[in-house]
Amino acid sequence: MAETHVVVLAAGKGTRMKSVRPKVLHNIAGIPLIEHVLHTAATLAPASTTVVVGHQAANVERALARQNGLTFVVQEPQLGTAHALLTAESALTGKAGTLILLSGDVPLLSAQTLKTLRDRHESTHAAATVVTAVVDDPHGYGRIVRVGEQIARIVEEKDATSAERQIHEINSGIYAFALEGLFDAVRSIAAENAQREYYLPDLVAIFQKRGSYVGTVTVDNADEIRGINSRSELASLTKVAREQKAAALMTSGVTIEDPATAYIDRDVAVGADTIIHPNVTLSGQTTIGSGCEIHSGVRIVDSVIGDHVVILDHCLITSSRVDARASLGPFAHLRNGADVREGAHIGNFVELKKTVFGKGSKAGHLAYLGDATVGEKVNIGAGTITCNYDGEKKNQTVIEDGAFIGSDTQLVAPVTVGKGAYVGSGATIREDVPPESLAVSAGKQRNIDGWVKNRKKRGG
Ligand code: UD1
Ligand code: MG
Repeated sequence: MAETHVVVLAAGKGTRMKSVRPKVLHNIAGIPLIEHVLHTAATLAPASTTVVVGHQAANVERALARQNGLTFVVQEPQLGTAHALLTAESALTGKAGTLILLSGDVPLLSAQTLKTLRDRHESTHAAATVVTAVVDDPHGYGRIVRVGEQIARIVEEKDATSAERQIHEINSGIYAFALEGLFDAVRSIAAENAQREYYLPDLVAIFQKRGSYVGTVTVDNADEIRGINSRSELASLTKVAREQKAAALMTSGVTIEDPATAYIDRDVAVGADTIIHPNVTLSGQTTIGSGCEIHSGVRIVDSVIGDHVVILDHCLITSSRVDARASLGPFAHLRNGADVREGAHIGNFVELKKTVFGKGSKAGHLAYLGDATVGEKVNIGAGTITCNYDGEKKNQTVIEDGAFIGSDTQLVAPVTVGKGAYVGSGATIREDVPPESLAVSAGKQRNIDGWVKNRKKRGG
């Protein structure tokens, strides 16, 4: 089989986005547009992948720094799509086989279509193969002009006659090319058009004149080849991406009560028989186990949730982990390395940060546990606060297995409450509590008899 090389065009500014951020770095389903494209391109196992950058080149390169095996070439100034491809020539010198050309702003192209494109292109020995679609509203796209069945040329909206504008078959801007002789053909493109740009689609007419075969692959689902040029297109393709993700999860056995309000990023995994209620957001690198129930208003980011976990309404969980059969919420906040172990319970208005919360332990109400290690079967009373910050640095609190912390306790870190110890309500714990002991620190209560009556007498 011929080698496959990929070039992704991403040098344009994206003027219509009205953004300081380059267009290809805007997200859909939690991932920048260009990463969707590179992810799909990778399914072809290409021998090389070249990204043509230009506008804010350094920012685009930096955003893709974690992706392996990319070659960046800079197109400056940006004189059109043909000029962009020519910029990539240096990265492809001496290479043979098939070049797949993708647009950095067309994020939902499927791996299946890309494979069909390559297979069709190679089996027909075409000079070029163009991905097209028939759409209701072709406005703004290049139109496919056919003579009989055969594609003859592509005309841009701005250069089209009114008859050509009636054509509903559009150019996706995605192509396969035979590398041999490609760049010589691209060099013969002139900028004789309304935009004074070098148009890559002009190659079609050039190949036709030379008698080289040009083929097409027409996609059924036009969403696949929709490009993003504005914020409203970003929103409408985001919706499509979300629907696709929800559909895939439902196929794999997840219940989603209202797919229209399930905001689930592409890389999120959810186990079978998990139930997702309306208005749930699962973002980034998040994994949810099976048999969980996630209620409304929950947002989980970059976190790992085990099996059979119940998360009641309005919890925020970021960069944390929750083990099997734990229960959370409503209104719990887990962040920055919170680690809730099996069967533990974190309830209303409890915040955990960099805290291990042991197996079967409970913090049901109104607590802050930061930089703490809580053992197994610990009970944390309502209003317990770890005073972890002394104004300069963060300090550790350790609460050993089976300890009982009474309500409204402040644990002034660094401090340890020993195994099985009790802390009386309202305590301020500044010193370690030995195992199996009781610590009390609140002052002795005084009751003043007749105080109310006396106050009235004083006229209070
Ligand atoms: C292009 C096609 C059009 C097609 C449409 C599909 C041309 C002339 N027209 O139009 O037929 O229907 O895509 O979406 O190709 N880019 C560069 N350098 C440049 C110019 C563009 O890298 O000098 C990149 C852009 O960043 C973008 C891609 O090429 O990723 C397409 O460019 P864009 O300006 O969006 O072309 P369209 O007008 O959409
Ligand atoms: Mg475009």
